[in-house]
Amino acid sequence: MKKVILLGAAGQLGLLVAKSAPDNVVLNCFSREELDIRDHGAVKELILTTSPDIIINTAAYTAVDNAEEQHKLAYEINAQAVENIAINTPSETRIIHVSTDFVFSKISKHPYKPADLIAPGSIYGQSKAAGEKAIIQHHPGNAIILRTSWLYSAQGKNFVTTMLGLMAVKDELSIVSDQFGSPTSAHLLARIIWKFALESQVNGVFHWSDEGIITWYDFALEIYTQARKLGILNKDVSIRAITTKDYPTPASRPCYSALDSTATEDVLGIKTSPWRVELYKVLEKRKGCSN
Ligand SMILES: NC(=O)c1ccc[n+]([C@@H]2O[C@H](COP(=O)([O-])OP(=O)(O)OC[C@H]3O[C@@H](n4cnc5c(N)ncnc54)[C@H](OP(=O)(O)O)[C@@H]3O)[C@@H](O)[C@H]2O)c1
Repeated sequence: MKKVILLGAAGQLGLLVAKSAPDNVVLNCFSREELDIRDHGAVKELILTTSPDIIINTAAYTAVDNAEEQHKLAYEINAQAVENIAINTPSETRIIHVSTDFVFSKISKHPYKPADLIAPGSIYGQSKAAGEKAIIQHHPGNAIILRTSWLYSAQGKNFVTTMLGLMAVKDELSIVSDQFGSPTSAHLLARIIWKFALESQVNGVFHWSDEGIITWYDFALEIYTQARKLGILNKDVSIRAITTKDYPTPASRPCYSALDSTATEDVLGIKTSPWRVELYKVLEKRKGCSN
């Protein structure tokens, strides 16, 4: 039985990683309340006393806009705490660390491959890039850095649940239609994480998102269409396309951040799934939860 430590276990992705744990692992879950990864001594002690085979880090500072103000906190969680984990993890222990499409910010003619040059355009993206660098520097021989994008699930705070909430109370929504990327079901990503943890020996940076490159406007329209079809939403909402300039935010968002997941598909022998198919599965779960 492999011993696994899961950090950030009460987050959107952490909850699903815990829920989808296979039977052949002994899983120790830590939410922020149970272990603040900024406590370098406590993290070191945990690794030393439990000698895990695998550490999965889904803990992160994810408030993209607040990070522009809370620069120090974002770096403490996304960079320094990750460096401390990497330094104190013995070489035989595998680290699976989750990162983000926000390490990119430029327009690209093709989905980003793991080796493409990064250029984070926000404090959040920069702090996550620093976390990636720390793992590569201090634990290169037995670690996966798994970048993902536009993560959502049936529960918690994400674009899908936010849209459903807004659609329930508003008659019109204005959604940005000039930022391109790929949604990712956190339910499927959790399975990918376990595959990387248990079924592969590869190391380095990998990408995973669902298949298809769309805008937030396309995503909102499809959420609306599917929610109506499933009976989650029972009223009309008009969805208007706007530009990024019409919707200023403290942190700048990548105008293009689609990720190329081919390397992950090849290594794990699993194909990405069309984003509409994954959305439907997640909305069905959502319907199940609200019944
Ligand atoms: N959400 C997205 O769209 C998206 C896109 C691309 C990549 N990612 C990456 O995917 C991963 C998972 O994201 P998510 O959507 O699951 O985010 P999330 O729901 O915000 O989960 C992050 C978890 O980390 C915890 N945390 C924060 N500070 C901590 C600390 N100092 N010590 C221990 N735990 C701490 C949070 O606890 P509190 O809630 O109590 O603070 C939360 O439970 C992150 O690495 C993120 O960068 C996310």
